Amino acid sequence: MWSLVALFNIWKMVSGSIVFLLSRCCPPDVVVFPHCVEEVSALTKVCHQHRLPIIPFGTGTGLEGGVSAVEGGVCFSLRNMDQILDLHQEDFDVTVEPGVTRKALNAYLRDTGLWFPVDPGADASLCGMAATSASGTNAVRYGTMRENVVNLEVVLSDGTIIHTAGKGRRPRKTSAGYNLTNLFVGSEGTLGIITKTTLRLYGIPEAMVSAVCSFPSVQDAVDSTVQILQAGVPIARIEFLDDVMIDACNRFSCLSYPVTPTLFLEFHGSEQSLKEQVNTTEDITQSNRGSDFQWAQDAETRNRLWKARHDAWYAALALRPGCKAYATDVCVPLSQLPQIIVETKEDLIENRLTGPIAGHVGDGNFHCLMVVDPTDPEELHQVHLFTERLARRALAMGGTCTGEHGVGLGKRALLCEELGSMAIQVMQGLKDTLDPHNMMNPGKILQPREL
Ligand SMILES: Cc1cc2nc3c(=O)[nH]c(=O)nc-3n(C[C@H](O)[C@H](O)[C@H](O)COP(=O)(O)OP(=O)(O)OC[C@H]3O[C@@H](n4cnc5c(N)ncnc54)[C@H](O)[C@@H]3O)c2cc1C
Ligand SMILES: *[C@@H]1O[C@H](CO)[C@@H](O)[C@H](O)[C@H]1NC(C)=O
Ligand SMILES: *[C@@H]1O[C@H](CO)[C@@H](O)[C@H](O)[C@H]1NC(C)=O
Repeated sequence: MWSLVALFNIWKMVSGSIVFLLSRCCPPDVVVFPHCVEEVSALTKVCHQHRLPIIPFGTGTGLEGGVSAVEGGVCFSLRNMDQILDLHQEDFDVTVEPGVTRKALNAYLRDTGLWFPVDPGADASLCGMAATSASGTNAVRYGTMRENVVNLEVVLSDGTIIHTAGKGRRPRKTSAGYNLTNLFVGSEGTLGIITKTTLRLYGIPEAMVSAVCSFPSVQDAVDSTVQILQAGVPIARIEFLDDVMIDACNRFSCLSYPVTPTLFLEFHGSEQSLKEQVNTTEDITQSNRGSDFQWAQDAETRNRLWKARHDAWYAALALRPGCKAYATDVCVPLSQLPQIIVETKEDLIENRLTGPIAGHVGDGNFHCLMVVDPTDPEELHQVHLFTERLARRALAMGGTCTGEHGVGLGKRALLCEELGSMAIQVMQGLKDTLDPHNMMNPGKILQPREL
């Protein structure tokens, strides 16, 4: 089960230097495979009694090393809890156990006309996606996990079982106290084990169409993105790939798009609304010197296109065999996006670094997939300096350097800068209340005593 973590060979910045995560990636002492919430609770009580670290494990696809057991302890693999419960078609919600993945849920829903759109690329567990507050290519239209989780069942570090919005509740609105659901979304296994999540569902759109549009410059592509959103087009996906990224995807996925800054777009809606969306979008891209759209209409061509986008990580790795990848993850207010991408691109070229850019630009979020030779200390140093510059640029623009992938082991120092030390102290207070012995995923984020 550790092979996935090993596969990604994630690089992390820890206390000022980039270290190879795998060198700190310790396996747990024990792996348990509970079948129901009562078993999770009973096992947690044992851990509590003996003060053993608890590491929840969904499908292990997280990119932040969140499941590595840096202090040993007990890994809770939740894959045997794989029931889909309480589908309410008429209310557009469903409750799932932590072994259910996003694809399994959508396969189950196929005949109902409903779907769950949040799509981080990997076929991750939905509770793991809640735990990491996953987003991905659809977030611009449907929101991230944060907007789509209605209720959670959570086992706390002492074995207590809670329902964050009340047992059996699946409200659209509530004003009953603090929003505990929101607190646990994105908590990355540091506050409790999510054993059920209730999710919002959506009607499968009547029509979907994808398109690819090439641009002469980064500025033109990103300006188009900003204008499309400002025009209120309810675009379902809008993904930016720079020339290096599209070249890598062409090679890796046997495509033949022009090697220039590119947007991958997708529109969802009724036939009529689709026409309007496409018309407005084309007007905007043409006024920014964009090419004619290359269409992907049927499901198969569309799937090929989005598979290529989701394989960008592997395509980047294939650019330099033997190298490792490290993804930066900044998010800025939309109006700042053209400037930061243009500057970042210049920075990469100037310092001769391999860092194809791919981004969920509709959310102001983009990644440089830094491909690095792990045996070259000078290159590592350069990449480290680059990621620092990028993070500072984003923070100065009112953005974040923790983007969509949660707070990696190494982002602690920057986290402090992003949030300010008072906010971190409040978080520490919450952590101390919910997990007083610091047993829940102790390798992750908030060990702010060291901050
Ligand atoms: C190719 C690729 C592309 C990706 N692209 C995106 C993207 O565009 N956007 C994006 O947001 N993400 C992306 N991801 C990451 C994706 O979001 C995560 O893989 C997913 O959200 C984690 O789910 P998981 O079940 O695999 O969790 P794991 O990897 O098993 O765990 C992740 C973290 O959550 C905790 N956790 C897991 N399950 C539970 C639970 N039941 N209760 C409490 N804590 C739990 C773990 O302890 C760990 O800290 C990508 C991943 C891959 C491989
Ligand atoms: C509480 O948080 C959840 C998860 O982020 C969200 O879906 C829900 O809308 C929030 N509820 C309220 C009343 O804001
Ligand atoms: C969009 O519609 C307008 C009005 O019908 C038309 O003039 C324009 O050419 C259309 N744009 C595109 C790109 O088709």
